[in-house]
Amino acid sequence: MSYETLIFEKKEAYALIYLNRPDKLNALNNKLLHELEEVVKIIENDKEIRAVIISGSGEKAFAAGADISELNACDDTSGVQFSEYGNYVFRRLEQLNKLVVAAVNGFALGGGCELAMACHIRFASDKAKFGQPEVNLGIIPGYGGTQRLPALVGRAKAIELIVSGIIISADEAMQIGLVNRVFPHEELIDKTIEFVNLVISKGREAVENSINCIKMSEKLSLSDGLRFEAQIFGKVCGTDNFKEGTKAYLEKRPANFK
Ligand code: COA
Repeated sequence: MSYETLIFEKKEAYALIYLNRPDKLNALNNKLLHELEEVVKIIENDKEIRAVIISGSGEKAFAAGADISELNACDDTSGVQFSEYGNYVFRRLEQLNKLVVAAVNGFALGGGCELAMACHIRFASDKAKFGQPEVNLGIIPGYGGTQRLPALVGRAKAIELIVSGIIISADEAMQIGLVNRVFPHEELIDKTIEFVNLVISKGREAVENSINCIKMSEKLSLSDGLRFEAQIFGKVCGTDNFKEGTKAYLEKRPANFK
């Protein structure tokens, strides 16, 4: 299937999504959000896909934000829908039990930074730039920035970035915990694929259930979360991959996960 605003490539056990409006710095318009929703649904239902990488087409941008030519038409009613739809698509992506990695290859501003934050982890090129410049447009972040940024970098840093609209480098983004790792620009995709393949080589149930439990930590109290973890731990103890992993360790050989 081909898309107007995305490139979707299914590799053996992972999928690559490129935001593909390079002449508009991959700005997130309504069409792109709809196509992203479609692709997320495909990934949800495809058991062969165990991880997802999202990056941007072209040399300059991951995504330079919501498309300002569409945003400009919002009023106090349609603005709510504008925000809710983006939040719905990003949340659906975030809720995948498959690993979702943002490979941030350039500008990740506004909605672009928010999309990266909805991914489970963020790898960045040394040329990447991050920021929530919505204040410059007289608006607030609308695709989760006020909620996910403080969770990642702390409340004070989130307020500093959001109320000033300043743009920070990949290195600074790593220092504050917004990105996991920074790679030389030309190595970003290869290094991201290498990491994804490492994860795919582990026991499937271990990876999926780890992500699931970690996601539940945002909803549950510590006591309930620990109870939930114990239940899932038990479930994973019942899998062939667990038997193989522990047996391989005791036999001093690499595990052969199915
Ligand atoms: N929405 C719509 N179009 C956008 C866009 C956005 N968020 N960001 C960039 N573009 C478009 C530009 O309008 C331009 O289109 P044009 O060639 O038809 O005029 C094209 O992408 C290239 O952008 P340009 O501004 O020429 O690139 P630059 O390298 O000089 O500047 C940025 C890069 C990211 C600093 C600048 O594009 C920018 O400030 N973008 C808006 C960022 C923003 O406020 N995002 C939050 C939105 S809520």
